[in-house]
Amino acid sequence: MKALGNISRALLESKLAIGLFAGVFLASVIFFSVSPQFGWHSPNDLLPEVPRNGGSAPSGSPTKEHNDLAPPPVNCTTESPAVNRTTESPAVNRTTESPSVTKPGKDKVTTNSPTNFTGEEIAPSPALLPPLKPICDFSDHRYDVCEMWGDARTASGANRSRVFFIPPPSQLATANAATWSVRSQSRKYIPVREVLVRSLNLSDLHDAPNCTVRRSVPAVVFAVGGLTFNYWHAFSDVLVPLFTTSRAFGGEVELLATDPKDRKWFLGKYGRVLRALSRYEAVDLDADTEVRCYPHVVVGLRGHRDFDIDPARAPNHYDMRAFRLFVREAYALPPTAALPCKSGARPRAMVILRGGTRRFVNPDAVVAAVERAGFDAVRMEPGGSGGRLGGMGMDAVARAVDACDVLVGAHGAGLTNTVFLRTGAVVLQVVPWGKMEPHAEAFFGAPAKHMGVRHVAYSIAAEESTLYEKYGKDHPVITDPDAFYRNGSNARYYWREQNIRLNTTRFMPTLEMVKRMLQE
Ligand SMILES: *[C@@H]1O[C@H](CO)[C@@H](O)[C@H](O)[C@H]1NC(C)=O
Ligand SMILES: *[C@@H]1O[C@H](CO)[C@@H](O)[C@H](O)[C@H]1NC(C)=O
Ligand SMILES: *[C@@H]1O[C@H](CO)[C@@H](O)[C@H](O)[C@H]1NC(C)=O
Ligand SMILES: *[C@@H]1O[C@H](CO)[C@@H](O)[C@H](O)[C@H]1NC(C)=O
Ligand SMILES: *[C@@H]1O[C@H](CO)[C@@H](O)[C@H](O)[C@H]1NC(C)=O
Ligand SMILES: *[C@@H]1O[C@H](CO)[C@@H](O)[C@H](O)[C@H]1NC(C)=O
Ligand SMILES: *[C@@H]1O[C@H](CO)[C@@H](O)[C@H](O)[C@H]1NC(C)=O
Ligand SMILES: *[C@@H]1O[C@H](CO)[C@@H](O)[C@H](O)[C@H]1NC(C)=O
Ligand SMILES: *[C@@H]1O[C@H](CO)[C@@H](O)[C@H](O)[C@H]1NC(C)=O
Repeated sequence: MKALGNISRALLESKLAIGLFAGVFLASVIFFSVSPQFGWHSPNDLLPEVPRNGGSAPSGSPTKEHNDLAPPPVNCTTESPAVNRTTESPAVNRTTESPSVTKPGKDKVTTNSPTNFTGEEIAPSPALLPPLKPICDFSDHRYDVCEMWGDARTASGANRSRVFFIPPPSQLATANAATWSVRSQSRKYIPVREVLVRSLNLSDLHDAPNCTVRRSVPAVVFAVGGLTFNYWHAFSDVLVPLFTTSRAFGGEVELLATDPKDRKWFLGKYGRVLRALSRYEAVDLDADTEVRCYPHVVVGLRGHRDFDIDPARAPNHYDMRAFRLFVREAYALPPTAALPCKSGARPRAMVILRGGTRRFVNPDAVVAAVERAGFDAVRMEPGGSGGRLGGMGMDAVARAVDACDVLVGAHGAGLTNTVFLRTGAVVLQVVPWGKMEPHAEAFFGAPAKHMGVRHVAYSIAAEESTLYEKYGKDHPVITDPDAFYRNGSNARYYWREQNIRLNTTRFMPTLEMVKRMLQE
């Protein structure tokens, strides 16, 4: 936990390289977990107690998925000895825009029995190809990516699924063989099952597996493991960057998921998003018995920022607003709906009631205050049971959020539901004690604004923190949060130990302001 404060700042600034398990800690600390089968939160928030070095999960660990957060602290640069991650990459320029590769047609899905293909026979004419060989770019601080055109073949593997690339004939004679091991997600300091990308040359051409399935559409290979048991991470680390990477293909793309061993539910839970991105059923690459051959493969996801997109770097200048509208469409929500309150109805506010940390210890008072301020309050209960909305699936969550003008909740993964709000809706984020405002802004505030949703932050007073009750007004946890960031114990106190006793008198003016915003 030592480095956590610094790590947290580093992540926030998106500049510094960070250590592997410190990254796991931070990411885990900030958000709480999701009950996979229900699409809603687990009541616990104990992720930071990551078992390491073979240790077992803490007794309170909410789900067994967390056990795979227990990698040895590996070096990002220590791959298997044969692998040189930097080979061939320095000279390469990243291509964000993919060339148009789609010519939809009936012959797009062709299944062949093993054939007499060789690389040279398969490779399209060099004239069709971009100039360079397989492109592996490990330079971004957030993601690694390889992109190849021509003849790329996938195959499952015991420990890593593989992608083989056969350079076009014009380059084959002079090509150097190279191998990369890629974390095909967009949080590269978090371990996921890696994908082995091999660029072949004349010496090892025979290693290329023979195609059993040939496609004329591109493929995107991505890992669904990592921190995706957490709702926010599922969007931030996979769904948003998957959108950025594959939306421009207009559905004419195959999605190949790796690393689903404990996340088999991922492809089901987020199936609507995946089906909206691709006309073809997503493939579990690790379990695939085919050798799939493509004219264009991207391994990895280009994620620009936490739960956010940098339009300047995205194909078609996609932004988070486009992402939100896309998600709404995927969940069959109305495309251009006015806010519910514009129909003359009382504005409706969904109150997210966390069950673990950073929960409201006076939830009924909070809900009553929301009602008193003139809203219809809808409670979003934690866990899979107990509330009106508890235990509901993603479709129901999407519809329930869509029917609201406002999302109210403490800093935490539930605010990810912003993706289902209508344009102009308001997210009212309650920011816990402990200088958490920059995180509140980075993880939810800025993304909400980029989505076309308004964001209001309410920072609690010290007296509203249960840390105040527990440690007293003179304890450094109240008087000197900086000290906790300095020694890395900030997350332990402010993210994990803290709950909130909202002072509804103090909160009321903020609620009233939000109500006025909706009337504008
Ligand atoms: C990780 O990389 C650093 C810097 O390259 C090196 O000094 C260190 O020995 C490596 N650690 C391991 C476990 O390989
Ligand atoms: C890895 O690639 C770099 C840059 O091309 C090269 O200097 C280095 O010798 C390579 N290392 C190995 C083990 O091949
Ligand atoms: C990369 O892009 C820059 C700017 O567009 C260009 O000057 C440079 O030649 C490119 N390098 C390669 C290897 O294509
Ligand atoms: C296999 O090779 C034969 C002879 O070169 C050729 O006629 C045939 O089309 C090839 N099969 C495929 C599927 O390319
Ligand atoms: C797969 O991983 C296991 C354990 O990590 C290792 O013993 C085995 O040699 C690996 N197999 C291959 C084919 O790399
Ligand atoms: C293939 O690549 C390897 C590794 O870069 C190299 O040692 C070998 O000479 C190459 N083979 C040919 C035929 O160029
Ligand atoms: C691919 O098929 C050819 C012709 O049947 C065969 O000679 C070759 O060994 C096969 N390659 C692999 C990797 O199975
Ligand atoms: C960090 O500093 C605070 C304030 O001095 C102290 O209360 C806390 O115990 C320290 N934690 C660690 C892990 O050193
Ligand atoms: C709640 O907030 C009001 C208005 O800021 C303040 O007057 C009151 O003392 C607060 N109550 C508590 C218990 O802190």
